[in-house]
Amino acid sequence: MIRVAVAGAAGRMGLAVCAAVETAPDMELTGRADPVLQTTLEQVLGDAEVVVDFTRPDTALKNALACLSAGVHVVIGTTGFDPKLLEEAVSSPGEPQANVFIAPNFAIGAVLMMRFAVEAAQHMRHAEIIELHHDGKLDAPSGTAARTAELMAGASGQPPPPIHSVRLPGLVANQEVIFGDTGQTLTIRHDTTGREAFMPGVLLAVRRVGSLEQPLVVGLERLLF
Ligand SMILES: NC(=O)c1ccc[n+]([C@@H]2O[C@H](COP(=O)([O-])OP(=O)(O)OC[C@H]3O[C@@H](n4cnc5c(N)ncnc54)[C@H](O)[C@@H]3O)[C@@H](O)[C@H]2O)c1
Repeated sequence: MIRVAVAGAAGRMGLAVCAAVETAPDMELTGRADPVLQTTLEQVLGDAEVVVDFTRPDTALKNALACLSAGVHVVIGTTGFDPKLLEEAVSSPGEPQANVFIAPNFAIGAVLMMRFAVEAAQHMRHAEIIELHHDGKLDAPSGTAARTAELMAGASGQPPPPIHSVRLPGLVANQEVIFGDTGQTLTIRHDTTGREAFMPGVLLAVRRVGSLEQPLVVGLERLLF
């Protein structure tokens, strides 16, 4: 059994992760950290092998550093912070051995959307990204859009495409990558209709974070393909 604690356990994603961990046959939910529950991360770290973090952009980095100091692996879904800030921490010789896995999007359809956009970017030069999310989302552009743009730029040698952010009630998470060329357009679109879309990816990351090839890995595609 993998002992899992969830940071942000009272949030929209945290609640879904707690439910998914509780139903996974090979996992045990050992802690729920959230200011709303009056439980700190430090209070649940001692019982956990893996922490799953779905908190806030201004909190995720500090939480990850606390996990690493305690020798606890961490799976981060929180977006809007710079993963490069963790590179130094994971390679620091004084720290106990623990890994970090980060994915801006844990939905398989979103990973495929990014992959197809990277492919198309090598053949069609003009593109823009529109990302649409619920109005409670704190960061803009979304981590998925930023990652898509970064991957497209890396594959095409072009500057990253512009990103447009829409925030409205009723939405969960959606993204379109639109390519334009003479007499034609190509649209690659992913729609998340429920947060359960992210759970298979989160559980996969929990199972794999302890045996990563490097101590810091970014992107669900690194576990899938
Ligand atoms: N990677 C993905 O696939 C994916 C999917 C959806 C959302 N997200 C990201 O996940 C994050 C959370 O999204 P959400 O919609 O659940 O937000 P939310 O606001 O519903 O939940 C965040 C929770 O974190 C708690 N929190 C704040 N500080 C904390 C701390 N120091 N320790 C523990 N908990 C703390 C808050 O009280 C809140 O309950 C956002 O950054 C969002 O962009 C990522």
